[in-house]
Amino acid sequence: MEELRLRTRLVWGPDALGSLGELKGLRVLVVSDGFLSQSGLVRGVMEALGGAETALFDAVRGEPTLEMVAQGVAALQALDAQAVVAFGGGSAMDCAKGLVWYGERRVPLWCIPTTAGTGSEVTAFTVLTDTAHSLKYPLVDDALVPDVAILDARFLEGVPQSVTADTGLDVLTHAAEAYVVVKSNPFTDALAERAFATAYARLPAAFAGDMDAKGEMLFASALAGMAFNAAGLGACHALAHALGAKVHAPHGRVNAVLLPQVMEANAQHLPTAKKYAQLAKLCGLSPNHRALSGALRRLCRRLGIPERLAGPVDLGQVAADAMRDPCMAVNARTFIPSELEAILKGVVG
Ligand SMILES: NC(=O)c1ccc[n+]([C@@H]2O[C@H](COP(=O)([O-])OP(=O)(O)OC[C@H]3O[C@@H](n4cnc5c(N)ncnc54)[C@H](O)[C@@H]3O)[C@@H](O)[C@H]2O)c1
Ligand SMILES: [Fe+2]
Repeated sequence: MEELRLRTRLVWGPDALGSLGELKGLRVLVVSDGFLSQSGLVRGVMEALGGAETALFDAVRGEPTLEMVAQGVAALQALDAQAVVAFGGGSAMDCAKGLVWYGERRVPLWCIPTTAGTGSEVTAFTVLTDTAHSLKYPLVDDALVPDVAILDARFLEGVPQSVTADTGLDVLTHAAEAYVVVKSNPFTDALAERAFATAYARLPAAFAGDMDAKGEMLFASALAGMAFNAAGLGACHALAHALGAKVHAPHGRVNAVLLPQVMEANAQHLPTAKKYAQLAKLCGLSPNHRALSGALRRLCRRLGIPERLAGPVDLGQVAADAMRDPCMAVNARTFIPSELEAILKGVVG
């Protein structure tokens, strides 16, 4: 038996933020990152929560760690919060998911993404870093699925170009991986195709600052999130988690440098090569996997994403960590560690 669940309620359009009024009278913990809090962007959220008793936890700095989650749990308990609102990119949303998960009781979780993006606002994933062991690992549980996601592209206006580029490549990676993993199905394929084709077509305009394109990227991000939440991710994310914990480069950028290499390795599996060819066709490219990986490399160059990440890194250790990552288990083909090391040699150092 197969099934598809879409649990998160999505809210968008004029006054989508006004839906926060539903939390009136409750104690609400707002989770954000230090930059968004200092920039004043979070103020609009606090105002929309005017009828609630609020506290702000804005200790998220960079990608979330177990220590940040522990601090967040303390803030949750200090307020005895009845709901959590996450405002930010994947880092703030994943930290919020972590603290809701570790809290004493499951409180409603609202997410407002400010990058496009991780799709975390619709997924059962949170990716946390264990700094003591230099490990970054996804936690996957239905209790992590946000209850409500507010999609408001106005918050994306000031996103730096490099963040638009990195996070946009994350959207493309989510869609491309969900499309070929063993659990893909006609519903997730439809979501992934739309997400990939939209992001491929609109990311350059979003990078140039076009607000309509940023809005389309925000929708593509949620579509890709729905696709991978149901189907899973694959080898590229398994490697990106393992490598990201060692090189400390942004998540989307690590995926960006890995994706073309992983596609070429995955395409040795004929049904996967055919699906990549289908994605290439949808993007107006020659229908074969090399056209797709080549186009992604050109897109990265155009967006200023480097072809390699700085080392040195123990590639054998990264390959071993990636083999243990849950995303590897659903990849379309199996890899042995030496094959992963060969991919890594192509992108690090
Ligand atoms: N849970 C999931 O399903 C999932 C999926 C993919 C990635 N992730 C995780 O998400 C994290 C990355 O999230 P991200 O790529 O969104 O980056 P991020 O949240 O770390 O944000 C990147 C930078 O952009 C800034 N920023 C965010 N929104 C902004 C805005 N509107 N204006 C100006 N600056 C803004 C942030 O302050 C930060 O400096 C990683 O830890 C990654 O592993 C989670
Ligand atoms: Fe990702």
